[in-house]
Amino acid sequence: MASAYQAAISAQRRPGLVHRDGGLDRSELVRLGTLAASSHNTQPWRFRLGARTIAIAPDLSRRCPVVDPDDSHLFKSLGCAAENIVQGAPAQAHRAHPTFDPATGRIEIALEPSAAAREGPLFAAIPTRQCTRLPYDGRAIPPAARAALEAAGSGTLVQTILIEDEARRRAIADLIRAGNEMQLGDPAFRKELAAWLRFNDSAALRTGDGLASRAAGHPPIPDWLARLIIGFVLSPRSQARRDALMLASTAMLAAIVAAENTPRAWVEAGRACQRLALQAAALDLRTAFVNQPIEVPSLRGELHRLLGLGDGQAMLLLRVGSGPLAPYSLRRPVATVIEAN
Ligand SMILES: Cc1cc2nc3c(=O)[nH]c(=O)nc-3n(C[C@H](O)[C@H](O)[C@H](O)COP(=O)(O)O)c2cc1C
Repeated sequence: MASAYQAAISAQRRPGLVHRDGGLDRSELVRLGTLAASSHNTQPWRFRLGARTIAIAPDLSRRCPVVDPDDSHLFKSLGCAAENIVQGAPAQAHRAHPTFDPATGRIEIALEPSAAAREGPLFAAIPTRQCTRLPYDGRAIPPAARAALEAAGSGTLVQTILIEDEARRRAIADLIRAGNEMQLGDPAFRKELAAWLRFNDSAALRTGDGLASRAAGHPPIPDWLARLIIGFVLSPRSQARRDALMLASTAMLAAIVAAENTPRAWVEAGRACQRLALQAAALDLRTAFVNQPIEVPSLRGELHRLLGLGDGQAMLLLRVGSGPLAPYSLRRPVATVIEAN
């Protein structure tokens, strides 16, 4: 089964197609879109193709109402997918212009021909980017890389704040631990999370979505055993131990913050976050989300204080560092996420 998993990953994560002749392969752009990050790997998107457009609509059947009651993570996930298409289009000699329609919740991407194909480093990083949920090696991020990450993670309505000082990293680590305790102490949160866990390769291959044990650095286990030990797997104490290890090995946190807490800001935050993660991957750096202090409303105020935010809103929180890659996570087949016209 391990080889079936690996074969699926190799096919899904093949390098992006380059078209020098102005030909436009929209389903290839959708494939690149689907390689984006999404909350719990829910892939909450439907794509509709026009002659020179791709629309991304929310798939509300993939909502996570407990961890994400206002669908903000869902719209950030759509922003992540849109950004991959923005980075992928120049390799097909097109420029992609996304706009968000708050009335429909759709991102409409116009594709405009450009003079020549361009393969930027963020384009090349689309298939190699991953959320690396492993300990990092603790090395500091060089200043040039820091500047590139800050630039990539900023844009319309949003900005990236890098946190490297020990005192704030520790204070945020405390918030992450508190967030874990509250989330994992909530039976509804555990139930929702468990529904997206894929404990072995055959479960992950069957759905093509969700959080694969392999990708999280856990050994695969059979479903019957998972049912028996789920309480231990999702215990606040074991998660706290794991997170402490992760955070102690991480020299830098990155917060994506926005000027407002609206659906268009969620989409922009997703786009900026995906750019930051692609930039990190292009620099051979790793990223992983630690969003607990944003997801738990009672912790947000303290996070905002530590980040020095006035009216701003923390949207996403990541750790950034260097270290080995983890196994990749799967996606659903491209054909199943394209809507008929
Ligand atoms: C809006 C959003 C929120 C996320 N929140 C978390 C999180 O709190 N913890 C975590 O480990 N991963 C989080 N993720 C990462 C997803 O689980 C990950 O993108 C997904 O499993 C696919 O894996 P990949 O990014 O390695 O391809 C989040 C991703 C997005 C887009």
